[in-house]
Amino acid sequence: MLNVTPEKLDAAVKRAEEIIKGLTLAEKSGQLSQFGTSIYNDEVHYFEDHYEKGTIGSYLTVGGAEVTNRLQKECKEKFPTHIPILFADDVIHGYKTIFPTPLAQSASWEPEAAKKGAEVAAKEASSAGIRWTFSPMVDIARDPRWGRIVEGYGEDTYLCSKFSEAVVKGYQGEEIGEKDKVLACMKHFIGYGACVGGRDYDAVDMSLNTLYDVYLPPFKAGIDAGAATVMSAFHTFNGVPCTGNKFLLKDLLRGMLKFDGFVISDAGSVWEMKTHGFVENLYDSSKEALKAGLSILMAGDQFNDHIPELIKNGDITEEQIDKALLPVITLKILLGVFEDPFVDPKGEECFFCDEHRAASREMAVKCPVMLENKGSLPLDISKKYALIGPLVDDKENVLGPWALKKEIETTVTIKEGFKNAGINFSYAKGSDFLENNEQDIADAVECAKNCDTVILVLGEKEEMSGEAKSRVHLRIPDAQIELFNKVAEVGKPIILLISAGRPIIVEEFKDRCDSIVYIWQLGTETGNALADLLLGKHDMSGRLTASVPYHEGQLPVYYNKNHTGRPALGKVWYETGYKDMTTDAAYTFGYGLSYTEFEYSDLTLSATEMKKDGSIEVCCKIKNVGKRGGYTVAQLYIRDLVASCVRPIKELKGFEKLYLEAGQERVVKFTLNADDLAFHNQKLERVVEPGKFNLWVAKDSADNTLKAEFSVVE
Ligand code: BGC
Repeated sequence: MLNVTPEKLDAAVKRAEEIIKGLTLAEKSGQLSQFGTSIYNDEVHYFEDHYEKGTIGSYLTVGGAEVTNRLQKECKEKFPTHIPILFADDVIHGYKTIFPTPLAQSASWEPEAAKKGAEVAAKEASSAGIRWTFSPMVDIARDPRWGRIVEGYGEDTYLCSKFSEAVVKGYQGEEIGEKDKVLACMKHFIGYGACVGGRDYDAVDMSLNTLYDVYLPPFKAGIDAGAATVMSAFHTFNGVPCTGNKFLLKDLLRGMLKFDGFVISDAGSVWEMKTHGFVENLYDSSKEALKAGLSILMAGDQFNDHIPELIKNGDITEEQIDKALLPVITLKILLGVFEDPFVDPKGEECFFCDEHRAASREMAVKCPVMLENKGSLPLDISKKYALIGPLVDDKENVLGPWALKKEIETTVTIKEGFKNAGINFSYAKGSDFLENNEQDIADAVECAKNCDTVILVLGEKEEMSGEAKSRVHLRIPDAQIELFNKVAEVGKPIILLISAGRPIIVEEFKDRCDSIVYIWQLGTETGNALADLLLGKHDMSGRLTASVPYHEGQLPVYYNKNHTGRPALGKVWYETGYKDMTTDAAYTFGYGLSYTEFEYSDLTLSATEMKKDGSIEVCCKIKNVGKRGGYTVAQLYIRDLVASCVRPIKELKGFEKLYLEAGQERVVKFTLNADDLAFHNQKLERVVEPGKFNLWVAKDSADNTLKAEFSVVE
């Protein structure tokens, strides 16, 4: 439900109905059309010729107080309807001040911190006249070949749902229409991350049970939190393009999830129904999209071209168009743009302000995941380090993809961060991302010879993950591997920092490094945050939210796979899996090291039986047994042992990130509700079935140390 009081909603709907009554068909089509910009002879055009006709409802990626004010003014003067324009943009992990990528943010296991990031992004974007962001992306991603894994919150449904809810609240605030807030857009509806082979835009074919239990809950969480808009996806879902899919957009979204905002197509996904071979022409694709329940067409004039004709021919009724339009106009009213479409240009002074940079830095220290540490970390301020790699002095690639309004000169590079922190180091680039030369490598080797410990920062360029960036090789590029090999020959201990938008296989480095940290792409404050973290001013508190495989041939690898009749126990020949490799991840979901150690003990349940509508309390004692304060993420997993539809071997159902001083202990308490155990049965009914369950409170999804059993009874 939209987060607005019933009275306000009612009044806005009534006002919207009145406005719609006064619109011509062309004006109605215009309100359902979103335009980008176009460039002729180096001049930017905004399709202003549509103003006189009133046939433009919103803009994509047009922002800035000056330009949005100018366009709103022109629109007010020239639009016959005087309906203000809605400016939208892909504000994915920050508008100007860039935060860690969503995948990196999820590794913090702190949805509240992501909410804060969304608040900052909303403030900056709305200062630039943008009142609608195409975020959050809540597609579950189980295959790191898919480049868009970087845009979401990882492989797990429960965790992703928590981020979904928090980020929607961060963007929209308590009530739609608050100052400094924007509309959220849940995308891409639905199943996009399950594209076959991890190939972006490819088909998705999945059971409805998997859809309901794995892919739908994060959307539900965002919609329950009040998300105003949803974006339909590019792909075909079980043979039908999502943008023209009545089952998805009507039955599921409006029916099951009770969504009452509006749906926008992904860019071009209306006309792509023709390319899919679902319809013969663009007239039909418009018809199918509208009949399926779409409101706005992103990037194009197709609705302006076809809606009047569709109605004339009786293929669509005007009532259907009015219905599509009602939530669009209602939300414009609720946002307050009718009363005041302009923004105060002074508002843009908040870009990169100290408060926003501090929030980005605070988030960035929470995200890196330490995979290995034999003792080189935290850094020793009295030692000399060699800081080597193409990402060390790089202002752009550490921001990650989808930082559309970035100003790269504002980035604190890793090199600058080390300088600011007073670390004693010398620097060598060593290599480019994809190419190297003998001189750079020789300089890096020299640099390595004159230090106590080498810090190598290797990984992906920003453009190697994101949309249309699927890859087969989940490896550090060859040129950088050569650099690693040459530097390793010097024989100094190596700390390897990997910056990338997806899990990268680290097998070939594991035994040759002292420490390995996955730093993702951390945003504007990368250097400062990293220096603080490596020096141990903060604990390493990130935990993986996407499993890291041993080999690409294992993909997809994710922890919550279903039971099989022949599990891979390594006991007999006829088992599931591969003959030449395990099916397990090299580093599993939930895994990550701290600078200190924790002991989990005394797992207790308040009862070993739970009614079908009841709950139990799960307690576990956690002690910091190391020498310094630090964070652990206590993770609650369950397994349904016998069910009418076979269930996953483990499922996350709760987590708590907690800080303990050295020697301190605490009891963490989870409430597990029977409803948390529900799944969809063969009739697609959501049920809680009686029977036995296993339960773990664990440090990661492969940790089986503390296990208990309970039953659900009638
Ligand atoms: C992407 C969307 C994005 C849109 C607008 C599309 O190509 O799939 O996620 O919001 O472009 O930029």
